[in-house]
Amino acid sequence: MGGLVPAAALIEVTKQFPGAVAALDRISLSVLEGEMLVLLGTSGSGKTTALKTINRLVRADRGQVTVLGRDVESWDPIVLRRSIGYVIQEAGLLPHLTVAENVGIVPRLLGWDPSRRQARTRALLELVGLDPDRFAAALPRQLSGGERQRAGLARALAADPPLLLMDEPFGALDPLTRRRLQDEFKALQQRLGKTVVLVTHDVPEALRLGDRVAVMHAGRVVQEGPAAEIRAQPQAGFVRDFLAAALP
Ligand SMILES: Nc1ncnc2c1ncn2[C@@H]1O[C@H](COP(=O)(O)OP(=O)(O)OP(=O)(O)O)[C@@H](O)[C@H]1O
Ligand SMILES: [Mg+2]
Repeated sequence: MGGLVPAAALIEVTKQFPGAVAALDRISLSVLEGEMLVLLGTSGSGKTTALKTINRLVRADRGQVTVLGRDVESWDPIVLRRSIGYVIQEAGLLPHLTVAENVGIVPRLLGWDPSRRQARTRALLELVGLDPDRFAAALPRQLSGGERQRAGLARALAADPPLLLMDEPFGALDPLTRRRLQDEFKALQQRLGKTVVLVTHDVPEALRLGDRVAVMHAGRVVQEGPAAEIRAQPQAGFVRDFLAAALP
């Protein structure tokens, strides 16, 4: 598989916020096309910051970030963000728009005509397991947390972006619903061939979903590899302790 251009990569990226220690300390990461990379780490380890360098919501102080082989600094940021689906914690739906309007935001920005938008929205709601007849006209506050997260996923998929960034997309769910959404999402991702970078602090989730897992600690990647390898051979020190604390 050598020579493949990664769908996204961070190369020696450093990010220092004013008055804070380095949020990212020379980290390197890459995700191949069709692969799911999970960034796993404790609170404050730099996961969200790393994710946001990919759609340029955060700009690196040093190092380079590429998307589809091109430096993000050379992309038009608007085009870049429309090419990347982004799912944030609690789904981030706009409260005054219906579910259908939320899902159709990017298609509308792209100038799709209303009938194409409507057909796409219905198809997406079905794809994520939300009955369009019941949910299209609902407002986000009328949905349960799990339903909102499904709607957020539908919105991120709307313009069929090749790359999805997901920040704790299954947080705040009961364990059973969480498990079901994880399994459904993994199957969906494989079926659609999407490239995904997913952030979580949940060890079982990372090991279940990730093709590869990068364990982050204090702005660095301390271990990176296939999920099975991280589980079987956690590095002594932080990674081993973190896994031991989370796994039965
Ligand atoms: N806009 C900002 N201004 C200043 N400091 C920031 C900013 N964003 C993040 N930080 C700091 O950078 C560090 C990494 O934050 P980040 O949000 O990437 O962590 P995280 O791993 O996503 O944590 P969590 O699991 O709690 O979401 C933290 O110490 C945080 O306080
Ligand atoms: Mg975060």
